[in-house]
Amino acid sequence: MTRTSTQVAVVGGGPAGLMASHLLHRAGIETVVLDHREVREIETTHRAGILERDSVRLLTETGVYSPGAERVLTHGDRHGGIDLRFGGRSHRVDFERLVGASVWLYPQTEVFSDLHRARTRDGGDLRYGVRDVQVHDVLGTPRVTFTGADGSPHEVTAELVVGADGSRSACRDLVEPRTRSSREYPFAWFGILCEAPKSAPELVYTRSDRGFALISQRTESVQRMYFQCDPGEDPGAWSDARIWDELQTRLAGEDGFSLVEGPVIDRSVLPFRSFVQTPVRHGNLLLAGDAAHTVPPTGAKGLNLALADVRVLAEVVERALGKKDPDLLDEYADRALARVWKAQHFSYWMTTMLHRSASDTDFDEARQLGELNSLVSSEAGSTYLAEGYTGWPAR
Ligand code: DHB
Repeated sequence: MTRTSTQVAVVGGGPAGLMASHLLHRAGIETVVLDHREVREIETTHRAGILERDSVRLLTETGVYSPGAERVLTHGDRHGGIDLRFGGRSHRVDFERLVGASVWLYPQTEVFSDLHRARTRDGGDLRYGVRDVQVHDVLGTPRVTFTGADGSPHEVTAELVVGADGSRSACRDLVEPRTRSSREYPFAWFGILCEAPKSAPELVYTRSDRGFALISQRTESVQRMYFQCDPGEDPGAWSDARIWDELQTRLAGEDGFSLVEGPVIDRSVLPFRSFVQTPVRHGNLLLAGDAAHTVPPTGAKGLNLALADVRVLAEVVERALGKKDPDLLDEYADRALARVWKAQHFSYWMTTMLHRSASDTDFDEARQLGELNSLVSSEAGSTYLAEGYTGWPAR
């Protein structure tokens, strides 16, 4: 058994775990990051692509990049608004004009790679491809045991453990839940990557009689698109032609808008759930990101919320370790959960405003169009969307 000790053991080496490790390192706090996945697997799992204003700041203002080499700014695309499309027409919501903010299209896989590069550059202790990760004694002096990538047994002793191990979190199971709030939706998203030029300069969130569709982008030659589907849908059962037909039908309208088609190079069905578990602290274990909460993808809040969590977490952990006062850790839950519930509402709201469900009545359909019409024709309504989409100020 190889034994090491550190100040904070971070379980989960995705963007949340790596950002936590990066921020703690900046505060002079040692971490060890553990993940059962290989780096390559994380780098090639396609996830969301929109960063709120403060997520971009967190990347550019905390030394993730060398000065002048801020990859999110040089390789990402700034979007000053989105299109809401319904009734066959697009309505632009102009974030810049409404709230003086924008978002950046920069895929989560790139955020991961940038953080991984930064932690490696700064000598971070990162262990990917480890097995049998188990967290012990979080009410006393925590230990994490695991089998190293070479098959040898290890134990890391730490003052604190951060559980950033995603929506199927094992750390979460160590916390006796006080509340577990969730909502299931009767649909999922069919997500594709295709080789084609952009069909639109910004995101197009579409409500159609056949259900929701979202047009997003990746590069000049690769695009990301989604459409609402049945949760049990088999992505392999869809030919390219059928996928394009479904997307074109949902986007069609009197303005003649149509998508530029190309070969579909990746397809998957994304699960859909709203979930929050409390408490997010159990002794010396703190949960962050998807381990503590998941949002449906409409509005792209998942990654942004995870980054907002770990920003607060790093600040609170720095103070608690510095003053040797574990009671100070309670501030994490209070501050993080306030934002979590704003994002839960926002994601739920955008989802229900744009998706169709089999049980919808004529009333539901007309009410949904009434909501969209009042949103795009009201300065107050559009501003509410713009504020939530670009992200509430950190507190
Ligand atoms: C993307 C994903 C989302 O869930 C969203 O709301 C916007 C964009 C994306 O993958 O580009």
